Amino acid sequence: MRVLITGGLGFIGSALVRRLLDGEREIEVINVDCQTYAGNPANLVGYDRNPRYQWVRAQIQDSAAMAALLSRQQVDAIINCAAESHVDRSIHNPEPFIATNVLGTEVLLHYSRRYGVERFLQMSTDEVYGSLDLDQGVFTEQTPLNPSSPYSAAKASADLLTLAHHRTYGQGVVITRCSNNFGPFQYPEKLIPLFVTNGIEGKPWPLYGDGRNVRDWIFVEDHVEAVWEVLRRGEAGSVYNIGARNEHSNREVAETLLRWMELPAGQIVAVDDRLGHDRRYAIDPGRIERELQWSPRHGWDEALRQTVEWYRAHPQWWQPLKAATAPTA
Ligand SMILES: NC(=O)c1ccc[n+]([C@@H]2O[C@H](COP(=O)([O-])OP(=O)(O)OC[C@H]3O[C@@H](n4cnc5c(N)ncnc54)[C@H](O)[C@@H]3O)[C@@H](O)[C@H]2O)c1
Repeated sequence: MRVLITGGLGFIGSALVRRLLDGEREIEVINVDCQTYAGNPANLVGYDRNPRYQWVRAQIQDSAAMAALLSRQQVDAIINCAAESHVDRSIHNPEPFIATNVLGTEVLLHYSRRYGVERFLQMSTDEVYGSLDLDQGVFTEQTPLNPSSPYSAAKASADLLTLAHHRTYGQGVVITRCSNNFGPFQYPEKLIPLFVTNGIEGKPWPLYGDGRNVRDWIFVEDHVEAVWEVLRRGEAGSVYNIGARNEHSNREVAETLLRWMELPAGQIVAVDDRLGHDRRYAIDPGRIERELQWSPRHGWDEALRQTVEWYRAHPQWWQPLKAATAPTA
């Protein structure tokens, strides 16, 4: 089986490439990634020499490049992870989010249909559902789309295009909507790696607003395992929520990290809230648990400690990234 993964140089895409090359002996992987600031070949060192792996440096919205690739190589399945993924960047400059997250998805859907790709997994996010109040239930697959940021609106648009390709053309698409990921190789502009690396560097931790915004955290390896199950066994034309039933406010995450890293409370510095900041995300993963017998294998404490240790042990990975771009939050 040949699987085309887009965004395979990024945080989650590279975890998926490593998982498939390590765990599935029959799988060949084509990684389509144009290497934005978030794409890093260092995420796949060692794997890039595997004869079952190839990297095609191209933009997913480049119709000519996608047509050429899919017409030349028989591809059985596409997992579309490529995206502009940082909410704060989308607030300041939405255009690349539309180009990659919306147009790129449409181009991939179009050429996968033309060249007979049987399965197409669109990697989406719980952010397409919008925001919950602190005392309001959880997101199910039936929750209406109500995105708040240009990032999540672009992801929601891609979900609708993906479902439309199933209804109109009968394409074998599936969508996954996952909660906040953490783990090794996450770009240090996102909350957990930003706090851990700032802590190591003796820099403050900028905490948005009152710090009570709640996220539902999942270890990246559990997410990619779920994606692989949905790609192989998910019902075509439908959506699977992925989450680990693990809600924490940003302040709780910061306080846990403070204790473990033995840092003083003054490390946390309140900053102006993000525009349109969603209060709470919470995923009901009941469908994937029941229908595909998936459940997360990593507990929060163990996986978070493993993540902190990974950033401590790999300054050579994150220091150049922080030097090249001034992280926002
Ligand atoms: N990080 C999370 O917590 C989270 C949670 C749920 C869903 N998601 C979704 O998972 C996917 C991966 O997220 P991530 O955190 O790994 O992102 P990331 O920013 O770390 O990686 C994105 C990758 O896509 C590549 N890319 C960007 N634009 C491209 C284009 N036009 N053509 C080809 N490649 C391009 C980048 O070079 C990079 O390697 C995204 O679709 C995101 O919406 C992320």
